[in-house]
Amino acid sequence: MSDKLPPNSSFATKTVHAGTQHIEGAVNTPIFQSTTYKLTEERYAGWAAGAQHTMLYARLSSVNSEAVVQKICALEGAEDGELFASGMAAISTVLMGLLSSGDHVVANTDVYGGTYGLMTGELPRFGIEVTMADMREPSSYEASIQENTKLLYIETLSNPCLKVCDVEAMASIAKKHNLLLVIDNTFTSPWGCSPISMGCDLVIHSTTKYLGGHSQVVGGAVVGRADLIAELFAKKVHFGGGVDPHSAFLLEQGIRTLHARMPIHVNNSFELATRLLEHEKISDVFHPSHPTHPDYEVAKRIMPKGTGMLAFVVEGGDEGAMNFMRKLKIIFEATSLGGVESLIEVPATSSHMFVPEDVRHEAGVIPGFVRLSVGIEDVEDLWNDIVQALD
Ligand SMILES: Cc1ncc(COP(=O)(O)O)c(C=O)c1O
Repeated sequence: MSDKLPPNSSFATKTVHAGTQHIEGAVNTPIFQSTTYKLTEERYAGWAAGAQHTMLYARLSSVNSEAVVQKICALEGAEDGELFASGMAAISTVLMGLLSSGDHVVANTDVYGGTYGLMTGELPRFGIEVTMADMREPSSYEASIQENTKLLYIETLSNPCLKVCDVEAMASIAKKHNLLLVIDNTFTSPWGCSPISMGCDLVIHSTTKYLGGHSQVVGGAVVGRADLIAELFAKKVHFGGGVDPHSAFLLEQGIRTLHARMPIHVNNSFELATRLLEHEKISDVFHPSHPTHPDYEVAKRIMPKGTGMLAFVVEGGDEGAMNFMRKLKIIFEATSLGGVESLIEVPATSSHMFVPEDVRHEAGVIPGFVRLSVGIEDVEDLWNDIVQALD
């Protein structure tokens, strides 16, 4: 099974080794493509104790999902975790699993489109109230707290506007009012931000993004407080959003190079942001690590290593942005993010299509707004591609 790592191992060593199961001397975890496991005395006992982390049935857990859970927990500094079939399966299990009819949740106005749909279209059907507040202003979250508020929901960086959340300030509000603090840390990955060390109770990832890193596997993870994870495990069993062993296997391979990929994403995106700021056809550039970003100071504290995400506004509105994207040769016009290849989208026509226009504009997704997930290609090639498309 997995070898014990020295407790002071670095992030890089954990990405490679934490959780990895060296069965029969394999240097990485082999695929255990089995839907079920033979029942033994030990497993019956595990079942009786609640079944979490017991190899019984692959919807609950598998050798491959356990390896990944241990790895992500090591990277996030979490007590425990669970894997899911997608980021949305993770988010919906957290919200539907921890909230009940009569409860209230506060979330950011510009939350990821799928989460927005869940919060505004589904939760109210089950009697769960939602208030949208401005993540940039922790005081607006505090002002939204009601008698029945149970949970504050934040994102490290908002999608697609890349506003930075002051996670530490949110944690002190959550603590003061005795509320759960849940964060979607997809946009920075555990490499870029450590929300548990700042006071978050649960950290969610769409592992489809930076953790998988190669646009080859859809998945989700929730890590954090062991008591909450145990509660969520029971909900996962009921809701059914567990992960297939093959997907978990692919995810583990992706995570093993996270620390090597992230600095290239970050350096490339910073360089492109700096050059785009000088380009005459670009009116606005949003990069949290650039001093021109309104949240620069917060970003330095919350996510000092940066992100590979970048947004900018192309002249000519959404049509101008679409024309620009269609001329790109290396950067693919596609939704999603965090993969080794650069992906670009106009959120208004893709990831945020179903968010009402006024809500989008209010959040800063103005006409011509594009989001670029900067890959690990050569930065000069990326820049030349952008320049030829803008020209
Ligand atoms: C910030 C964020 N959270 C969650 C999700 C949902 O993840 P998935 O597509 O894996 O369900 C996405 C997807 O784009 C996202 O960008």
